Amino acid sequence: FKKTKELANGSIIPRLGLGVWQVKDGAEAVDSVKWALQAGYRLIDTAAAYKNEVSVGEGIRASGVPREEIFVTTKLWNADQGYDSTLKAFDESLNKLGLDYIDLYLIHWPVEGKYKDSWRAMEEIYRSGRAKAIGVSNFHEHHIEDLLKEATIVPTVDQIELHPTLTQEPLRKFLADNQIAVEAWSPLGQGKILENPTLVEIGKKYHKTAAQVIIRWHLQSDIIVIPKSVHQDRIKQNFDVFDFELTEADIKRINELNTNERLGPDPDNFDF
Ligand code: A2P
Repeated sequence: FKKTKELANGSIIPRLGLGVWQVKDGAEAVDSVKWALQAGYRLIDTAAAYKNEVSVGEGIRASGVPREEIFVTTKLWNADQGYDSTLKAFDESLNKLGLDYIDLYLIHWPVEGKYKDSWRAMEEIYRSGRAKAIGVSNFHEHHIEDLLKEATIVPTVDQIELHPTLTQEPLRKFLADNQIAVEAWSPLGQGKILENPTLVEIGKKYHKTAAQVIIRWHLQSDIIVIPKSVHQDRIKQNFDVFDFELTEADIKRINELNTNERLGPDPDNFDF
């Protein structure tokens, strides 16, 4: 199984990473990032809004893993959208992380009337080489179609809420047709679906947990996946997914768990 994926601009992104939404700034974030990198993870996904960029940077340095081996994602917060404020927010994220470049910079949410100006700034940041790739998050098909009317660079990634109870198949098809990679947030359904009998049963066949089954379902579905945990044993467990393979029938059963129910806000009704 190939652990990385090539994005449309040629960047190489690890398919499995650590997400740090709701990981507390300070020791919790430093340790989670350090443990993940020491366990073999090479992708760390943060955001300005998570308020833990300083500790994420510290965890990266504490891991002993060379910077160039690590793929770091951060995101532009809604209040910072607009051309000038995007340029400024990017510099602030770089400073907080203590890095001189970001591997992937994302627009966090499609703030109406603002995201096109933000994207012009993102394109400039990309051309300057300080973000090696740029993309979006929480964009529906109509947001991307609107963005592409003026964009000169196509987003490389759309990071969306995606898990076995929200499989997003129509949007995934649109993204695939446009060579935009799909990345899943809350990939484990925020931990709320780990007792699902189908997932537990499938896991038993392979001596794997429901969490590992879900991660493997994402990977085999060509979805970049960033499960969150602050526990070292779970961080390790979530990376221990490269020694088994779900069957087509397993994948189909997991796809059928879809209920189209979101755990987070719908990007069309988000109170920005
Ligand atoms: P914790 O951080 O306390 O380990 P998602 O990535 O979908 O947002 O899910 C994250 C949630 O799932 C967190 O509450 C996390 O708890 C929990 N979690 C992550 N990995 C595992 C695991 N392997 N087993 C059980 N719970 C997990």
